[in-house]
Amino acid sequence: MDRLLISGGVVLQGELRASGAKNSALKMLAAALLADEPVIISNVPHLRDITTMIELLGSLGVEVVIDEKMNIEIHANTIKSFKAPYDLVKTMRASFNVLGPLLAHYGQAEVSLPGGCAIGPRPVDQHLRGLEALGARIEMEDGYVKATTNGRLKGGHVYFDFSTVGGTEHIMMTATLAEGTTVMENCAREPEIVDLADFLNAMGARVEGAGTDTITIHGVESLHGCTHRVIADRVETGTYLIAAAASGGRIKIRDANPEHLEVVLEKLREAGAQLTLTADTIELDMQGRRPRAVSLVTAPYPGFPTDLQAQMIALNCVAEGTGTIKETIFENRFMHVHEMNRMGARIRLEGNNTTAIVEGVPRLTGAPVMANDLRASVSLVIAGLVADGDTIVDRIYHIDRGYEQVEEKLQNLGANIRRLGAE
Ligand code: UD1
Repeated sequence: MDRLLISGGVVLQGELRASGAKNSALKMLAAALLADEPVIISNVPHLRDITTMIELLGSLGVEVVIDEKMNIEIHANTIKSFKAPYDLVKTMRASFNVLGPLLAHYGQAEVSLPGGCAIGPRPVDQHLRGLEALGARIEMEDGYVKATTNGRLKGGHVYFDFSTVGGTEHIMMTATLAEGTTVMENCAREPEIVDLADFLNAMGARVEGAGTDTITIHGVESLHGCTHRVIADRVETGTYLIAAAASGGRIKIRDANPEHLEVVLEKLREAGAQLTLTADTIELDMQGRRPRAVSLVTAPYPGFPTDLQAQMIALNCVAEGTGTIKETIFENRFMHVHEMNRMGARIRLEGNNTTAIVEGVPRLTGAPVMANDLRASVSLVIAGLVADGDTIVDRIYHIDRGYEQVEEKLQNLGANIRRLGAE
C-alpha cells in the first residue's frame, strides 16, 4: 500500500490549477445513463473514484471513451446489464446514484447497497423514499436494492427530511425522464447540484430551481447528447488554501471558483490571510505569519463544508489561540484528531464527539499516521507539512480517491513530499 513521506517545515509558495470537481463529475457519469446519444464530459479529474465509476459503467456494457485530456465520452445505449455489483459499489458511495438513471431509462436496476468512506453510518433511506415517490417498486434482497417500474416513472412530490446532497441529485436526475412534473422540497443547495442540473438541461432535461431548496423537474420523454465542462473542485481548492495558510505561505490557485468558497474564504481571513480574488483565481498571502485559530460549525451549503473540517483542524493545531470546531453533518468524523494528537497537537473532543477544541501549539512533530477517510487523510498531510521532522501518511489510497496529483501539486508549492511504495 502506498504511503506519503513528508519532511515538514516548508512555507508553501507558488501557483497551481484547480482540478474539476470530483463530486460533480461522479454524478454526471451516472446521469449519462439517461441519454440516448453520446455525451461528452470535460475537465474530469483523474482520480481513483472516477476510474471506479467508469469501471462500473463498463461492467454494465456501456461504452466509455477517454482521451488524454480526460474528456470522457459515454454511450449509454450500448448497455447490456442493469446490475451494479457489490465489489464496485462498496468502495464508493456515489456509485449508488446509477440506480435511478438505470430505472428511469431502462425500467429496471439492481444495485448493491453502498460503502464509501468510513465516516459513520450513511443510510440511503432518503434516496429510496424519493424513488418510491416517483412510482418505483423497491425490494431489498441479499444486500442489493432491486428497483422496477411499470412503464415510465411518474412525477411526484418529494420532501427530504434533511439536507442530502446525494439524495437531491439522485432524485433530480431520475425525475428528468418521469412522466409529468416532480417537485422536490428541502433540497440541498451545493454548487455540484447546480452543475449537475446544468448538465441535465444540456441533455434536454427541464430542471428548474437547482441551488435553491425547491427544485422542479418537468419530465421529458428522452434526453439527447451534449458536451459539458465540470466546475472547479471547491474542496480541493479549499484544501490547498488551508495548507498554505497553515504553513504561513503564499499561493495562487487558477481555474478556481471563489464564489463557491465564500464561508471558507471568510474563515481564512479570520485566520489572518490576505486574499485577492478574481472570477477564477484566488491568491492567499499569510505574509509569513502564523495563523490565528478559528472556530466554526459545519453545515450544508452555503455553510462551512464538512469536507474541509479536518483540514481546518490541522490549521488550528499550529495556530495562535484556541478554536472550536463542531461537526453537524456526519457522526464519527474526527478520526484525524487522535492521529494529530500523536503528532503533538492539543485537541480534545467534547459533546459526544461532535466538537473538537483545538489549542494551538507552535509546531507539530512528525510521526507515522493514517486515516480511513479521504479528507481525514489529507488533513494528516497538512499536519505533516507543518510538523518538525518526517511524517509518513499510510493508506493514501484514500487521498488518491479525491486529490489529483497530490504530491506533484504540493511539490510545485515547494513541499518536501514523496510517495513510497508498499513496505
Ligand atoms: C456528499 C459528498 C460528500 C460530502 C457530503 C456532505 C459526494 C460524492 N459526496 O455526500 O463529499 O461530505 O455530500 O456535504 O458528492 N443521510 C441519510 N439518509 C440518506 C442520505 C443521507 O441519513 O438517504 C445522512 C448521511 O448519513 C449524512 C447526511 O445525511 O449524515 C448528509 O449526507 P449527504 O448530504 O447525502 O452526503 P452524500 O451525498 O453521501
